[in-house]
Amino acid sequence: MTQPLLEMKGITKSFPGVKALDGVTFDLNEAEIHALVGENGAGKSTLMKVLAGVYPHPEYGGQIVLDGSERRFANVRDSEHAGIAIIFQELSLVKELTVAENIFLGREPRRFGIINWEELYSRAQKLLGELRLQIDPRTPVVNLGIGQQQLVEIAKALSQDARILVLDEPTAALTDAEVETLFGILNDLRARRVAMIYISHKLDEVFRIGDRITVLRDGKTIDTTATRATDEARVIAKMVGREVDQIFPEAKHDRGDVIFEARNVTVEDPSVPGKLLVDRVSFSAHKGEVLGIAGLMGSGRSELLMAIFGAHAGRKSAEIFVDGKQIQINNPSDAIKQGIGFVTEDRKRYGLILDQTILKNMTLACLRRVSGRFVTSEDAEAAAGERAANDLRIKASSVFTVAGTLSGGNQQKVVLAKWLLTNPRVLFLDEPTRGIDVGAKQEIYAQINRLAETGFAIVLVSSELPEVLGLSDRIIVLHEGRVTGEFTRKEATPEAVMSCATGHARLAA
Ligand SMILES: Nc1ncnc2c1ncn2[C@@H]1O[C@H](COP(=O)(O)OP(=O)(O)OP(=O)(O)O)[C@@H](O)[C@H]1O
Ligand SMILES: [Mg+2]
Repeated sequence: MTQPLLEMKGITKSFPGVKALDGVTFDLNEAEIHALVGENGAGKSTLMKVLAGVYPHPEYGGQIVLDGSERRFANVRDSEHAGIAIIFQELSLVKELTVAENIFLGREPRRFGIINWEELYSRAQKLLGELRLQIDPRTPVVNLGIGQQQLVEIAKALSQDARILVLDEPTAALTDAEVETLFGILNDLRARRVAMIYISHKLDEVFRIGDRITVLRDGKTIDTTATRATDEARVIAKMVGREVDQIFPEAKHDRGDVIFEARNVTVEDPSVPGKLLVDRVSFSAHKGEVLGIAGLMGSGRSELLMAIFGAHAGRKSAEIFVDGKQIQINNPSDAIKQGIGFVTEDRKRYGLILDQTILKNMTLACLRRVSGRFVTSEDAEAAAGERAANDLRIKASSVFTVAGTLSGGNQQKVVLAKWLLTNPRVLFLDEPTRGIDVGAKQEIYAQINRLAETGFAIVLVSSELPEVLGLSDRIIVLHEGRVTGEFTRKEATPEAVMSCATGHARLAA
């Protein structure tokens, strides 16, 4: 066989207290999509940051060989010049700038040294068109939802005409239709001989799009195989080092009284007055129950929970009852006082303080409870945090590790731990397993189940239909801000739920 386009040989990279990469070997051919998989913290993103020059030589050990000769990138710009473009896992757009400005940041088309705005916007428009994105390139990024931001990141990478394109969890926030569009584009790029590295926890995607699969575990290459020659079960076993069978726990919840009820929740779009994101939605949650909220991206699920929690910018009206008593929630701390916890989908914006320790993050929402009556005991706090970190198997050298240095999935676990420590009676979970590996997912599912068994009411939003179906005792379905269906666990087939989610079937009015 001919020489690969890219070889990474014996790559090592350490952080204080962590050996993130321990002699990783990886190669990539022209016109190939090479999938890179592994548990949270396995080293996938770190390997890509080494490739991108985020960690320049000699911060890493080993060799990067491109077209047969060793390259040492001093920074990201350097790797870009060599034809490498990366879509990072953590979205990195500048919120205050427009979509087009973000796409061409630092590479703005110029004429006579001055930014050529007309050209900037028309080129951005063209790229967005290729992605079938209905976004005005003049929109500030801050107004976009997280799925749209992800698509803008993709447009940005495509604008570089790279020979090697790295996609680190590109579809975490995309709708099924958007994933199809993306895959169409990746197939076109492959036909144009672009080489791609595709990182995802969604193995069905990996098997659809990948030509080869490499598994990393604990910073080491475990195996590289042709996709044709393996299957999901074998890949999972290599990722976690054990067999994972029954992923959803056996549910035996005793449904109790209604603890939480929301009536006629209506939420207005903050940027389009008069447009309703949520339109008179009512639901109740019982003690000991997991209530799933299904619906497509943009159906109003997150907005519904955010508005109830007092965290949505749009105008809202709602009647909220806890234990049958009507309450007023004006902001998140009101909600927390009423025993409501919320794991949000956008952990960077609402969930985590990246430059604080894991422990600080976990205990932030609940200082009083952990430390007992008004007395702050650091020992008690540390012990509770330690326990939570162990329960969720957060991979870090200690609870004093800075949250921003954790792998994406482990950051998500910290957010979950933080809310569990507030001892909520009602817990809203919005995409709780986004970016989380299969092994850890199973642990989080078991946790959710345990919480329901001990009498919490859980309200679960997830784009992964199997997750909603596998965990929920009851499911309501939203379509364009309205409830279009309600099912018990028994009645809820994927077909029935999807037909309500797409608006084909509706509840009798
Ligand atoms: N800047 C950093 N400082 C300290 N430790 C880090 C830093 N970046 C990564 N690590 C550690 O290196 C290890 C590998 O992390 P990495 O982000 O590469 O994992 P990953 O495979 O991408 O996981 P995920 O699927 O959760 O995104 C983890 O233990 C992580 O905590
Ligand atoms: Mg990662």
